Amino acid sequence: MAPGSSSFLRESNVTPPQLYSPKDFIWGVGISAYQTEGAARTEGRGPSIWDAFPAHKIKDLRNAELSCDFYNRYDQDLGLVSWLGLDHFKTSISWSRIFPEGFGPINQTGLDFYKRLTDEQLKRGITPWYVLYHWDLPQALEEKGGWTNRDTVQRFLDYAHVVVEALNDCVDRWIVMNEPFVFVGAGHFLGIHAPGRSGLRSFLPAVHHVNLANGMGVNLLQSVAYGKVGTALSFAPVYPAIKSASNSAAARRCDKLVNHLFLDPIIKASYPQEELRFLNKIEKYVQTSDMSNMLCNPDFLGVQVYTREVVKHQWSIPYLKASLIPADKRGKLVTNLGQEVYPNALLEILDKLKLEVPDIPLIATECGISMEEDDTSENMRDSYRINYYNRVLQSVKHHMRSRRLQGLFFWSLMDNYEWAEGYTAPFGLFKTNFDSLARTPKASAFWVKEFMATQRKDMTADTSEVQ
Ligand code: FCB
Repeated sequence: MAPGSSSFLRESNVTPPQLYSPKDFIWGVGISAYQTEGAARTEGRGPSIWDAFPAHKIKDLRNAELSCDFYNRYDQDLGLVSWLGLDHFKTSISWSRIFPEGFGPINQTGLDFYKRLTDEQLKRGITPWYVLYHWDLPQALEEKGGWTNRDTVQRFLDYAHVVVEALNDCVDRWIVMNEPFVFVGAGHFLGIHAPGRSGLRSFLPAVHHVNLANGMGVNLLQSVAYGKVGTALSFAPVYPAIKSASNSAAARRCDKLVNHLFLDPIIKASYPQEELRFLNKIEKYVQTSDMSNMLCNPDFLGVQVYTREVVKHQWSIPYLKASLIPADKRGKLVTNLGQEVYPNALLEILDKLKLEVPDIPLIATECGISMEEDDTSENMRDSYRINYYNRVLQSVKHHMRSRRLQGLFFWSLMDNYEWAEGYTAPFGLFKTNFDSLARTPKASAFWVKEFMATQRKDMTADTSEVQ
C-alpha cells in the first residue's frame, strides 16, 4: 500500500511492526508548554509572543488560553503516558511563567509548577525531558526587538541557567531549543508565526542570535547540568522536481537553508554562505568570537522530521532562486499542514546525518502526523496514523539496532494547539475534547500500548539475535 493511495487512510487492523529495539532505546511522547498548558494568565505568568499574535492570523481564530489545561491536569496526563507503556516524557518550560518580563524578578510559583510536574514524573518512573525554548518568547522581550535584539541571547542564557539550577537534581535530559529553522523562518521571514516579523532584515539577525543562544546554551548547560544536553532541529530531505542541472542546484541551496542553517554554525562554526550568498549580509551581526562561542558538542541531537520537500529553480524568487512545489500540486496525499505524507523522510535524514554528524547520538524527539481523522466519534479510527508510524519504525529499525538512533518520541500525547493552525490539525494519540477537556484514546493509542508491551517483552530477551 503506497502512502499516496487512499487505502493508506483507511486500512484498519494494522498490527504493530515486528521490530525489537535495543534494551536502552528511549521510547517517549511529547507535548510543549504553550500548546497544552493553558493557564495563560494564571499565577503570575507573563504573556508570550503567541498570546500577543493576532487572532486573524490563526486558522480558526482561536487562542490557547485554556487549550488542554495541562497546567491543572498534568497528573492525569502523566497517567496516560504510563498507560501507553512509555517512560520518557518531553515538554517545554514556559519562559514567561518563570520570568514574566523575560528577565528580572523570578516568578517562584511558575518554577514550582515545573518542580511539581517533575516530581510527579519521577514518582511514576517517567524520565522528564525539558525543552528550554519551544517558540514562546516573553512578549516583554519581543517589545525590545525579540530575537532581532542581541540582548535576548544573554536573557535566554540567564533564564536557562535559573531553570537548570532549580531542577538540576531531578532532570537529566535537557533540550536547549526546538526547531529554530521553523520559528525563525515562519516567525521572522514569512510573518506567519509569532511574532509575525518578515523580511531579511529581521530574519538575518534572528538567525544569528538564535544560533548564538542555541550553541552557547548547549555549552552553558553542559557546564552546569548534571544530565545530558542536546538541542532539537527540524530536517527535511530535499529533492529536485525534474532532474536538471538548475533544479539540482536549487535543491542543494534549499537543503543548505532547511537542513544546515542551524546545524553548521553550532557544530562547524560556519554558515552555509558559499551556497547561500544572501547570508553574506549576516556578517553585520557577527561579533568577534561569536562563531567560536556558538560551537558546541551536544550530547545528543534531537531530529524532527515531518515530510520532504520538492523544489525547482525559479529565478524570480529573491535570494534563493528556488521555489517549493506544494505536495497537492504534485498529486501527493497531504497532511492537515499541507505537507506530503512521506514516511521515508526520517530514514533519509538519518542516513544523511550519519555522514554529517557521525559522532553525535541521534534521537527522534518528535515524530507524528495529522490528517483528517476517519471517524469523529469518540473512538477514533486514526488508521492513517498507525500506518504512518508502522512505516517510519520499519524503515529506521537498522538505525535503532546500530544505536545511531537512540530514541523516539511520538508527537503528540494529545490533540493540542497547533500554532497558526489553531485546533484544526490534531496530532494526538489521545483526542482532546476542547469543551469538556476529556481525553479519549484513539486507535493509535491502543496501537502504541500494544507495541510497547511487545517491546518490553522483547527488550528483556537477547536482542542481538532478533532480526
Ligand atoms: C513541530 C513543532 C511542534 C508541532 C509539530 C506538529 O514542528 O515542534 O510544536 O507543531 O511540528
